Amino acid sequence: MDTVVSGIRSTGTLHLGNYFGAIKNFLKMQTENNCYFFIADYHALTTHPKPEDLHGNIKQVLAEYLACGIDPEIATVFIQSDVPEVSELYLLLNMNAYVGELERTASFKEKIRKQPDNINAGLLTYPVLMAADIIIHKANKVPVGKDQEQHLEMTRRFARRFNMIYDVNYFPEPDAYNFGKQLVKIPGLDGTGKMGKSEGNGVFLADTPQEIRKKVMRAVTDTGPAAQGQEPSEPVKNLFTIMNVVSDPDTVKFFTEKHASCEIRYGDMKKQLAEDIIRVTDPIRSKINDILSDNRYLSRVVSTGAEKARASASKTIREVREIIGYRSF
Ligand code: TRP
Repeated sequence: MDTVVSGIRSTGTLHLGNYFGAIKNFLKMQTENNCYFFIADYHALTTHPKPEDLHGNIKQVLAEYLACGIDPEIATVFIQSDVPEVSELYLLLNMNAYVGELERTASFKEKIRKQPDNINAGLLTYPVLMAADIIIHKANKVPVGKDQEQHLEMTRRFARRFNMIYDVNYFPEPDAYNFGKQLVKIPGLDGTGKMGKSEGNGVFLADTPQEIRKKVMRAVTDTGPAAQGQEPSEPVKNLFTIMNVVSDPDTVKFFTEKHASCEIRYGDMKKQLAEDIIRVTDPIRSKINDILSDNRYLSRVVSTGAEKARASASKTIREVREIIGYRSF
């Protein structure tokens, strides 16, 4: 059984792409491993959120993950800032993280370009905090997307370096959790590329049916197939890809044939697609709302989670302090 750690951005409200991609795999992963899922609300501070927004974001994302089926009875579900041991390990790891290597991190260089007015030290040491999140539970697996691969590589390096400096074999070097071919890529509604939050091309699980209809009806298509049997253009192919995930095979077949015979009406296809997205997401949406209105439940989830996470984290901190040379008189 592997120990898995996954941090969730507290501003990462979920869209269809997250759900049919990562989250579906998380549901299986949590039954087969010792999983720690946490809301990364220390990391969130790098962008200086207003106090009144911070809590709401955390609550929303937590409710969405729970509504999707992340099960706090099986996995340890917690909030990063409820586990102060993480910040202690972060401090200790910072002593052996070099400014040069941190400055060369791709995500840091991107921030310099994108937000030159707020290049704070928290951004520079973001990979150190992430490493602390992971190795504090001595995790050996981390589910990461492409954008987080370098951070995981740095986590491995910081773990290895600690072991070297103190001549111990204490921290495991975590590997990427491999979902194999099961990772479904959901395209956005703008004709090209993946569905993403910042791309503005997504359907969110928390969107109302009216919002979903509006977004789908505005999705990019083309002027229609010019010849019988012609391959759909990329924007249309993308709609078929989404349809494949949310609609009956018969529905997909119907519109595929209509396209092949040049009789397709994209308006009809979109109407059907919108209704199928609504049908599939409806139970999740109502669950999100139920959970959001149940503060007692949420409070129970995070306090149980914090207790479990702190048990594991404080053991590591105790051992690390001993290794480093902090000893009692
Ligand atoms: N950096 C990750 C992201 O932006 C979030 C994260 C923080 C994380 N700590 C982590 C992911 C630890 C995995 C493990 O998505």
